[in-house]
Amino acid sequence: MIQIRNAADALAQGQLVAFPTETVYGLGADAKNAEAVRKVFEAKGRPANHPLIVHIAEFDQLAQWCRDIPEAAELLAKLFWPGPLTLVLKKAENVLPEVTGGQDSVAVRIPSHPVAIALLRKFGSGIVAPSANKFGRLSPTTAADVREEFADDELAMILDGGPCEVGIESTIVDLSRGAARILRPGMVLAESIFVALDNAPEMDLSDTPRVPGSLASHYAPRTPVRLASSADISQVIDEFESQGFETAVLSFKPPAMLHKHWIMAKKFPSHYAHTLYRNLRKLDGASADMIIVEEPPDDSDWDGIWDRLKRAAFDSKPKEKSGIADSELVHGDRE
Ligand code: TXA
Ligand code: MG
Repeated sequence: MIQIRNAADALAQGQLVAFPTETVYGLGADAKNAEAVRKVFEAKGRPANHPLIVHIAEFDQLAQWCRDIPEAAELLAKLFWPGPLTLVLKKAENVLPEVTGGQDSVAVRIPSHPVAIALLRKFGSGIVAPSANKFGRLSPTTAADVREEFADDELAMILDGGPCEVGIESTIVDLSRGAARILRPGMVLAESIFVALDNAPEMDLSDTPRVPGSLASHYAPRTPVRLASSADISQVIDEFESQGFETAVLSFKPPAMLHKHWIMAKKFPSHYAHTLYRNLRKLDGASADMIIVEEPPDDSDWDGIWDRLKRAAFDSKPKEKSGIADSELVHGDRE
């Protein structure tokens, strides 16, 4: 409790506090303090035009941040809040441009992690929180991941709430422009949202999911990542290894032969998401030349996972094809 109070005090003083949510750890700041919000961008190294999510404790607080709240928002909030869903709505007049990236909309969610809820209640207002990682890197799912990411003087404190249950970032649904659109898939499935909004006039399935301003190379380990189909993966690994490259593997299968860096994942989406970033971090730590990930099934309950894997693999070139110096490829930041 004392920790929560200290964290709320630090936020009120304009400092940054990392805290657990059910999805990933967030880098929190007072959403009404422009100076504090700017510190978030600075600490993350994130471009200022990438808007942030405002976290609140209660549905009643929504009206402080949004205007013209549609019925669809109330419906989704009732079904999925607190939980891993973010709603993009028309912003209330006084919401800082630093939070919204100058847009007329704002992203809001009520997280379900008890520590996040306790902090939000104690603080009594909105907390902006991007994932607590440097821009373009893997999101943290433990307090230790956050500690690795930031220098001691960058954060006032890190609240430790254990490993995040969901493991990947919230699903983002845009309701600010009429028809509902998924901007970022996650573990609240598009299907569930569309079923929930069945009768709502703002339904529109035609748009392709994307987050405005997002870069494809988000959520990337330092080691290049390559996706391989279940049919191809053994051959892909053999090819790399036979050329003298060390591989680190995330697969649904056990290794055919002795392999130093092999993680066998379960084929359950919730479990896979829960362990995804931890597994990628582990494989990244192996200092191999290439991380090879077996492609998950094509079913829609893997959409959020597919999205993160594609981003992790984006622009990852095998060494021999790229002609880039080893050190750049293995340790180079993509952003
Ligand atoms: O699970 C999560 O959502 C985590 C935890 C900490 O809550 N947070 C998170 O924040 O993933 P961040 O900053 O890493 O991602 C926020 C995403 C960005 O892709 C941003 O573009 C989008 O939300 N976003 C924020 N405001 C928006 C807006 N007004 N319109 C469209 N997209 C928006
Ligand atoms: Mg992030």
